[in-house]
Amino acid sequence: MKSYIDQLVNAGIEESEAKKEISILKSEIKDEEKIKKFIDERIKTRIPVQYLIGKAYFMDFEVKVNPKVLIPRPETEILVEEIVRRGKSRLAPTTAIDIGTGSGIIAIAMAKLIPDIKITAIDIDKEIIDIASENAKLNNVENKINFKVCDVFSKCFEGLLQSQKFDLIISNPPYVKPDELQKLKPEVYAHEPKIALSGSKENKTGLIYYERIINLCKGLINQTPKMIAFEIDSPLVNDLKSLLKKNGLNNFEIVKDYSKLDRCLFVFI
Ligand SMILES: C[S@@+](CC[C@H](N)C(=O)[O-])C[C@H]1O[C@@H](n2cnc3c(N)ncnc32)[C@H](O)[C@@H]1O
Repeated sequence: MKSYIDQLVNAGIEESEAKKEISILKSEIKDEEKIKKFIDERIKTRIPVQYLIGKAYFMDFEVKVNPKVLIPRPETEILVEEIVRRGKSRLAPTTAIDIGTGSGIIAIAMAKLIPDIKITAIDIDKEIIDIASENAKLNNVENKINFKVCDVFSKCFEGLLQSQKFDLIISNPPYVKPDELQKLKPEVYAHEPKIALSGSKENKTGLIYYERIINLCKGLINQTPKMIAFEIDSPLVNDLKSLLKKNGLNNFEIVKDYSKLDRCLFVFI
């Protein structure tokens, strides 16, 4: 085990990532020769193990992944845990929307953890929604989630927010500025979907998804959601605070991740 991790670390892969990937390989594949082949391929191509074997883990469950969807991040687990904690203590959400669902991890985790919740989960591409639906079935929560192809910047999204009442609005939106994409690790830059990292539109500021969602939610006068929960990137935090202030949303909390970086934003309406 140690030497596999060393091989990945020596090839420039972060130790925490190397440990996680070797642990996934070891749990999925019993044949040592096959493991060695995957490691060679991993080093040669820089394709993350999760894409090589088509599986990833989030919290305590498994999902299928392919290069159309982002590989689940441990930071996103904090977002889910914090939503559930708030849900139990004061919000008791019964309806939620997961915007930019990708592999479906946030919606699936919420469906598993909150008994009577009904979730709508949207993404821009049918192939992405197909993976998310398959993952919901794999985790036996397909009855609690309604998956839909819908572009955040389209009338479809406006219609959805106006026609349905959501107690909770959740999003881990694309927030990497285009000129910062190349600074990402090769695993991420070359192999994870640009549409998940930076978005479907020019996202020069990293803020366009937050702006769109906040602008629309603010307009839902009679059916305002109780809370908007975002995953965020810490360098954006001051801009996000200004955006909230500009929209008169002064009741919010920021939660840090394991590296003590600002990672989740909860806006109470
Ligand atoms: C950062 S990823 C988050 C994926 C998943 N929720 C997670 O936490 O791993 C952002 C997601 O937003 C989706 N997306 C990008 N532009 C979109 C748009 N205009 N409308 C809807 N979804 C969009 C991407 O396809 C991607 O799945």
